[in-house]
Amino acid sequence: MPSDFSKDSVARYADASREKFEKTLKEIVEIPTVSVEPEHKADMARGAKYAADLLESMGARARVYPTAGHPFVHGRFVADPSFPTVTIYNHLDVQPADGPDWKTEPFRFTRDGETYFGRGTTDDKGPAISALFGAKYAMDNGARVNVDFLWELEEEIGSPHFEETIRTHAADFATDSIVVSDTVWVSRKHPACPAGLRGLQGFRFTLRTGETDQHSGTTGGAARNPQAEICELISQCFDAKTGRVKIPGFYDDVVKPTKRELEDLKNCGFTTKEFKKDHLLKSLRVDDPLEVMKRIWMMPTFEVHGIAGGYQGPGVKTIIPPSATAIVSCRLVPDMKPKKIAKLVKDFVKSKNPDVEVWAEHALAGYSAKTTGPYADAIKASMKFAFGKEPVFVREGGSIGAVLSMENVLKAPVYFLGLSLPEHGYHAPNENYDWRQARGGMMAFAEYFRRVGEI
Ligand code: BES
Ligand code: MN
Ligand code: MN
Repeated sequence: MPSDFSKDSVARYADASREKFEKTLKEIVEIPTVSVEPEHKADMARGAKYAADLLESMGARARVYPTAGHPFVHGRFVADPSFPTVTIYNHLDVQPADGPDWKTEPFRFTRDGETYFGRGTTDDKGPAISALFGAKYAMDNGARVNVDFLWELEEEIGSPHFEETIRTHAADFATDSIVVSDTVWVSRKHPACPAGLRGLQGFRFTLRTGETDQHSGTTGGAARNPQAEICELISQCFDAKTGRVKIPGFYDDVVKPTKRELEDLKNCGFTTKEFKKDHLLKSLRVDDPLEVMKRIWMMPTFEVHGIAGGYQGPGVKTIIPPSATAIVSCRLVPDMKPKKIAKLVKDFVKSKNPDVEVWAEHALAGYSAKTTGPYADAIKASMKFAFGKEPVFVREGGSIGAVLSMENVLKAPVYFLGLSLPEHGYHAPNENYDWRQARGGMMAFAEYFRRVGEI
């Protein structure tokens, strides 16, 4: 078996794989695996089948596991049963791609030079395929590990069946360590690994005060207006200008950042200017970079995603709508408890407006990641090998439901090797990924597998 983990050799492999990588990413991006939309149910199964066939075509064993929702895929490269196993987690489901701002078809893979456009290119199909190509190299070059893949198709809906399914088949997924590749760098020049993730507690608030639209001339003044009451309720929950949550007790369990963490923030390469540019934001609540970082990574939030109901068409239709729904969520940080926050919010809403119904969904706790020890050192060294620079460890603002589930059930430590960049546009129109991150990603993973085999 060849065994050449020199930088030149791994880079040559990545460059030689480019065409195959692009073809694979194209095929998988063009399967619209939108987990939240029921009309894509068949695409989810098609995506899982494609992924399993892909793993097998690369020399792995693969199996599709059904769940009560969408299936997930497990792949396994066995080098030698006596070697340790590393499990790589990615998700293959994507966010919806509605809205008028796409410049290309979201479910057509569109290449523009080194950039690949399409829903799911960076979140999280591109990183998944990059890791797979890295594993292939490591396997063919005698890395002393077995590599498993866990590819979920319900991540974007809060992983509702993941934990129960891996628990049922826990023996199939036994592993020694896990790497999650589903996070974002600080910027292209500043590789980063999460020192933590935020959790999430989602809600729907619905108020119904009538049965149908009514003329606002004949009923207005006496009829209640559910749209306006929902707006009032939201402004009672938090200050829209400052973001400060007004629900008593909301901040009680928030763990303050340590001195060390604040130092790391100052040295991580974040700038407010780039942040605004990458996310196409015209202005922010605050501009001080330290304050921005604390807010997006270390503090909980209350957010309104949309308010539904009422008239949305041209002109002014003079009706009083019968109902309104607000879709809201709170990002949580360690040590906030999703259940406690759900109860706090529900009770608060009821105290302000007893007719509003509250449904809680997506309950995910925040996560503190491991940033030291031999595995974290191997991640650092592998990113340096591939990208010429060690990553900084800073907390990240997003949430990944599977992380705590894997730790709880598989009893193996979780580390992170993310490849996405802020300007790739997670969840946004014109989502993209690029060859530089893919190529470096293959190299970083190949090197990581070699290193873990030596631990
Ligand atoms: N990859 C993201 C999580 C993420 C975002 C990590 C930003 C680091 C930085 C993931 O696909 C995601 O979008 N998760 C959802 C989960 C939710 C729907 C339960 C999220 O964070 O909103
Ligand atoms: Mn993701
Ligand atoms: Mn996502």
